[in-house]
Formats: sequence, C-alpha cells, structure tokens
Amino acid sequence: MKNFELYNPVNLVFGKNQITKLSSLISKDQKVLMLYGGGSIKKNGVYDQVKEALDGYDVVEFGGIEANPEFETLMKALKVIKEEKIDFMLAVGGGSVIDGTKFLSSAALYEGDDPWEILAKRIRTNKGLPFGTVLTLPATGSEMNSGAVVSRKEINKKLAMGGPGLFPQFSICDPTVVKSIPQRQIANGVADAFTHVLEQYMTYPIGALVQDRFSEGIMSSLIEVAPKITADPSDYDAAANFMWACTMALNGLIQKGVPTDWSVHMIAHEITAHYGVDHARTLAIVLPRAYQYKFEEKKEKLAQFAERVLDVKTGNIEEKASHAITAIEEFYHSLGIDTKLSEYTEDYEGFAQKAAESLTQQGMVKLGEHGDITPEVAVEILEKSY
Ligand code: NZQ
Ligand code: ZN
Repeated sequence: MKNFELYNPVNLVFGKNQITKLSSLISKDQKVLMLYGGGSIKKNGVYDQVKEALDGYDVVEFGGIEANPEFETLMKALKVIKEEKIDFMLAVGGGSVIDGTKFLSSAALYEGDDPWEILAKRIRTNKGLPFGTVLTLPATGSEMNSGAVVSRKEINKKLAMGGPGLFPQFSICDPTVVKSIPQRQIANGVADAFTHVLEQYMTYPIGALVQDRFSEGIMSSLIEVAPKITADPSDYDAAANFMWACTMALNGLIQKGVPTDWSVHMIAHEITAHYGVDHARTLAIVLPRAYQYKFEEKKEKLAQFAERVLDVKTGNIEEKASHAITAIEEFYHSLGIDTKLSEYTEDYEGFAQKAAESLTQQGMVKLGEHGDITPEVAVEILEKSY
C-alpha cells in the first residue's frame, strides 16, 4: 500500500428532515448567498424547506446555475458576492451547483486579475469563502470532496480545479430529494458514481484489501440499487443507499493508498466541452474502449471485479477480464445510457484530434495509473468510441 494522508473535514448530515438543521449549521450573523440551478428546487419543495430553515437570516439568492456550470454565469454570481459582501454560501443542488459554488469560493478570495486563471493555470485553492451544501442529486460526490469542474462554452473548455480550501463546511444529504429526480438524471447519477469507483479501483493489484473491498461494496450496492431506484425513486431505503453510495464513491476514502486512473474522466470531459453531452454519458462512451486498450495492464483487477462483484466463477484471468468489460458496458446500457459517440452526435469525425489538442494544451499528456495515456492514445481510444 502507498503512503497517504486522509483529510476530510466535511460535516455530513444525512437522512430525513435534516434540512431543518440549517439554522444550527450557519451562524445568524453571516450574510448568506443561496445558490441554485434552473428551478427544480422550486417545484419539489426543497426551496421552501431551505427558506423556512433560514427564516430570520439575511439571505441573498442566485439561481440559474446550469448543468455543467458555466463560467460566464458564475462571474455574475461573483459580482453579487462582492457587491453584497457575502460571508457564507449555501449551494442547493446537484454537482453543478456545488461545483459552481466551489469555483466562487475560490474566486471570491482570488487575488489575481482574472479568476479563469484558477482553472486555466490549475491553481490550487488553500483557502476559500466558506460554504455548505444541500444536495439534491446523488452522483458526483462533490458534497464531500474538494474538487470542481467548470465549463466555458465560448472556448469549448471544461476544466477541473480543487484544493483543501474547497471542502464544504457541511453537506445535508436528505434522500427524500431523490423522488423528484427525472429518470435520465438518476441513470446519470448511478453511472457517474459507478465510474468514480472504477477510476480508483481498476488499475493494478497493490494489496490494499480494505480499499478493494470498500470499492467492490460500493459497486455491488449500486448494481443492486439501480433497478429499485429506477422503478421507484420514492423508495426511501433505495434512495438512501443510492445517495450514500454516490458520496462514498468520491469522498477521497477509496483512493487512499492505491494507484488511480482518472484518464476516462479527463478524456470524457472533452466530449462535454465540445458537444454538451451529460457528464455520466461521456464516461460510458470512453470507458469500455479505454479498458479494452489497457486490457493487459488492467486484466488482474478486471478479473477480480468479475469474481467478486459479478460472481463469475469460471474461466482464466483473460476470460474473466473480458467478461468484466462487457458487463460494465451492459450495466450502462441497462441504465438506458448509450455507449457510442455516434449515438449522441452525427458530427464526430475529427473530434478525437481536437480532444487530443485540448488535452495537450492542458498538459494532460501522461494520464492513467501508468502515465501512458498520451494524447495519441486518447485519439485511438476516442476513434474506437465513435
Ligand atoms: O438545475 P435544476 O433545475 O436544479 O435541475 C437539475 C439539472 O437540470 C436536475 N436536478 C437536480 N436535483 C434534482 C433535479 N431535478 C429534479 N429533482 C431534483 N432533486 O438535474 C439536472 C442535472 O444536475 P447537475 O447538478 O448538472 O448533475 P450532476 O450532479 O450529475 O452534476 C454534474 C456536474 O458535476 C461535475 C460534472 O462534470 C458536471 O459538470 N462533476 C463533478 C465532480 C466533483 N465535483 O467531484 C466529479 C464528477 O466526476 C463530475 O465531473
Ligand atoms: Zn464523474
């Protein structure tokens, strides 16, 4: 096992009716900016619950943060933070609203001229404006990690940022929010969380027994819960397991002491940047071909996944590993997620080259657990994903 430090200061407040606890989590003398997305919280009652819990607080609102949060929109929110002298932010939404808030947390204290530099120059944030979250969509794990991804459509960029200053102070995770989530977003949530585990697990054996079993447990739970939550999003037990699995998939725990990949995410971000395809779906496009390409390097963990998660008892390592890749692609399909780029756009010719150029510009020239996913390899993987 590799050496590691585990630091996660997020106060995770989980369960029914926890939104009422907001008043014990935010001090009344702070001026609060409440941030949200396109309005789902106004239809499902979450907005009213938050407002009620913050009765008597000085609250300013900023709505309209879109899926794949957009830099231009966030710059408008930054203006509000400065003009209104905001002390604390409350993100009420899914990964996009939370990620947007993380960008703002960093940008609010940024001393440079242009906050885009935080993303473009990959500046780590050691201190940000404090914020908390009310999660409305299990998927990204953003509620319990310190990373964020922000898009800028005018230049087709989708860039990641992070740092120890960007952990939420608290996150309220009430599984009852799941009942209003559209099927497409539930599918996205399951696929994204499942892929997060794979990025931290599907590398090579390193004798990390606990991390492997945690990862396998999260993936088994997602496979078990996916049909239940799809059939009935108001099934509280299923929703609670779905939500906790998504948080656990990317709160830093399972990646400690082990090699991680993340090349699928980095390549897939280029698809969202160019075509606006939902994040989770871009992962499903890239991952099967990436694993076929890296078959030799990944086959032992692929076989272990087949044995322990899929309960495959027969066959040699190669057969089990092949079975695993097929089963992962079938799992995406079972969620209603297409796994070829041509199923999302007709305009895919030449995309792989553009993606490779963008990765090169960002310095992402040695991705993967062995640092051998170069832009040229990304082209091969993407061309097979058309
Ligand atoms: O905007 P509203 O109206 O709120 O609607 C949202 C949005 O349209 C809707 N929604 C959310 N909660 C709902 C709901 N609809 C009904 N009922 C509810 N309870 O769902 C839509 C999608 O929301 P979004 O926040 O975009 O989804 P998700 O949580 O999947 O976040 C995706 C973003 O997170 C980034 C992705 O790249 C993408 O930009 N990621 C962030 C990560 C992180 N910070 O660690 C890691 C991930 O790998 C990922 O890259
Ligand atoms: Zn993801």
